[in-house]
This record gives sequence, C-alpha cells and structure tokens, in this order.
Amino acid sequence: MIVATSRSASTPLALVELPPRPLGPLDVRVKTRSIGVNPVDWKMREGGPLRLAHRFVGPGGPLVVGVDFSGEIVERGASVRDLAVGQAVVGGTDFSRKQRGSYATEVVVRADQCAPLPSAVTFEQAACLPVPGATAHRALVELGRLQERSGARVLVLGASGGVGLVCLQLARAKGADAWGVCSARNVALVERMGARALDYTAGDPLLEASRAGPFDVIVNAVGTATYAGARARALLSPSGVHVLVAVRPHDYPAMTLSSRTTAVLGRPCRANLAPLVALMAKGELEVLVERVFPLAEAEAAHALSRAGKVVGKLLLEPPG
Ligand SMILES: NC(=O)c1ccc[n+]([C@@H]2O[C@H](COP(=O)([O-])OP(=O)(O)OC[C@H]3O[C@@H](n4cnc5c(N)ncnc54)[C@H](OP(=O)(O)O)[C@@H]3O)[C@@H](O)[C@H]2O)c1
Repeated sequence: MIVATSRSASTPLALVELPPRPLGPLDVRVKTRSIGVNPVDWKMREGGPLRLAHRFVGPGGPLVVGVDFSGEIVERGASVRDLAVGQAVVGGTDFSRKQRGSYATEVVVRADQCAPLPSAVTFEQAACLPVPGATAHRALVELGRLQERSGARVLVLGASGGVGLVCLQLARAKGADAWGVCSARNVALVERMGARALDYTAGDPLLEASRAGPFDVIVNAVGTATYAGARARALLSPSGVHVLVAVRPHDYPAMTLSSRTTAVLGRPCRANLAPLVALMAKGELEVLVERVFPLAEAEAAHALSRAGKVVGKLLLEPPG
C-alpha cells in the first residue's frame, strides 16, 4: 500500500510504500477512492496531546495522518456479515484501535466504522462527511438533543467551514432554525443552507445574535479566543448547551464548572454516518468541495487548510 507520510512536522509529506496491514475478524480492507482533509490532520503532525496519544496507543511505524475516506471493500474479516466485497462505503480511521490514517491507497478499519454508500452519493461527496458529519451529529443530536426540541434555535460560529456547513443543514433537517456566523463572502452560501447569516466583517456577530436568541444549541467551530465562552453562554436558553468544537486548554475550567459548556469529539462510525448519508442521498445535505489534490500533493492541501479560509472541504485523490 502507498501512504503519505513524513519524518517530522517540518519534512514535507511524501508517498512511500508500506506492507499491507493484517485483517482482524471484524475488519474490512477498503481501497480508498477519495480522502477528506481535516485541520486535525496537520495539527497531529505538529505535536500536542493528540500526537502524544498517537505515540502511546497508535499503530506504531511512520505517522500516517488522516481520518476520512470513501472507497470500495476489497476484503472482509471472517466475522463480517453486514458488508460485502465490492460494497462502496464511507468511514473514518481510529488510531486508538491501532489503525493507520486514511492518507493511503487502502485502509483497514472495523466494519462498524463504515456506512454503505447508495449509488446516489459519489465517493467525493462521501469523503467530505466523516469528521465534520460525526462532529455535527454529536453536537446537535447527541449533546444538543435537537430531535427532542420543537422550534429549536441553533447558532453556528464558523458556519462556512467543513463542520459549520454540515451543522447548518443538519439543524434544518431536524426542523430547527439556524443562524450562521460567517464573513461577507459566505453570506449567500450560509443562506443557501437554509440559515440566517450573521456577517462578522460587518459588526459584532454575537451582539447581532443576541437579537435572534436565546439559542438551544451554540456550536463554536472557531474557538473561544475569537468568540468568548462567557458571551456565548449568555445567549443560551435555560436548557441550552454551548458545544466547543475547537477546544484549547483555556476552556477546561469553563467545561469543568459549567454543565452547559461541553466539548465534542467527532468519531465517525456507521451509527452517525448512515443518517447523514441518507440525507445526502435525498438531496437534503450538500457538501462543497473547494479543491481536490492528488495524494502526492497532500502537503499543499495542508498549507491551504492551515490558512483557515477553506470554504467547505479539501479532498485528496489516491494514485491508481
Ligand atoms: N473536536 C472535534 O472532534 C473536531 C472535529 C472537526 C474539527 N475540529 C476543529 O474545529 C475547527 C473547525 O474545523 P473545520 O473543519 O470546520 O475548519 P475549516 O473548514 O478549515 O474552517 C474554515 C472556515 O472558517 C471560517 N472562519 C475563519 N475565521 C472565522 C471567524 N472568525 N468567524 C467565523 N468563521 C470563520 C472561514 O471562512 P472566512 O475566513 O471567510 O470566515 C472558513 O470557511 C478546527 O479547529 C478543527 O481542528 C474539531
């Protein structure tokens, strides 16, 4: 198998050949067709707690980053009954299960980390989903319980990014009213996703939001250095929840002291991907691909993602 890896954060990613991974009884081997880029992929290379965790519990060998993939099953473990060879799937890798990342021509993951793809959904569309979709699902459905609230109001800070765009559309699908904070260039896009746009380049978006609230769920996909936690919490309804997607150590006291501030960890699995794939197949969930790079140019994709201006998603195309 071919993977993109580098010896250190300052060494560019390059393609190398590695021996294939063995297959466990619950695993499937997937030939990747499209690979989604997330900020966590380059953050992992730079060090920090995730890299440390990877060092202790990860698969060992060269660091292969990446989580999101779509592709075709080429082999299945002896106990896998619910997915067949040849089946198109979307999923995410998990280093805590000793799996290599998705910047590769093939991945080995547990079958329950993959959701089947209907023919109405392309490999490229699907590869945009795993981390942003799992994160949006966790924030709005599992933590925000939108399905139990009628006429809910949702505020998304960072509405035009990978996570934000899925949040807006999932909120709409759950019957909620959504507001999205974005820059002037993305106002029309946010409105196309069924939300009301709050342009942060035209004034104080949280002041504007205070006129639309209170909110049942506030998803902060930018960070509390930009949108202070206390100001966001002041916009919550009595049962509202403030979900931090981009967490920093500074947030730990608020998360410990307030049950209304919580962090999300988006871990793709069949249970959270299947409902999103179904929405996509019905045309109720749209993804936006800003650019597709060959896997050999993953370094250029990381540079673009690191600049923080991507609207929608970046994808990598594996060789072959
Ligand atoms: N906890 C988890 O499991 C999890 C999962 C996914 C992502 N994350 C983290 O969440 C963050 C967002 O991820 P992502 O994939 O959505 O990132 P992304 O796609 O790279 O987000 C870029 C978008 O953010 C917008 N943006 C930049 N500054 C903004 C501001 N001040 N206000 C509103 N929007 C702003 C940009 O548009 P403009 O510049 O035009 O505004 C751009 O469209 C990252 O830090 C990522 O590491 C965490």
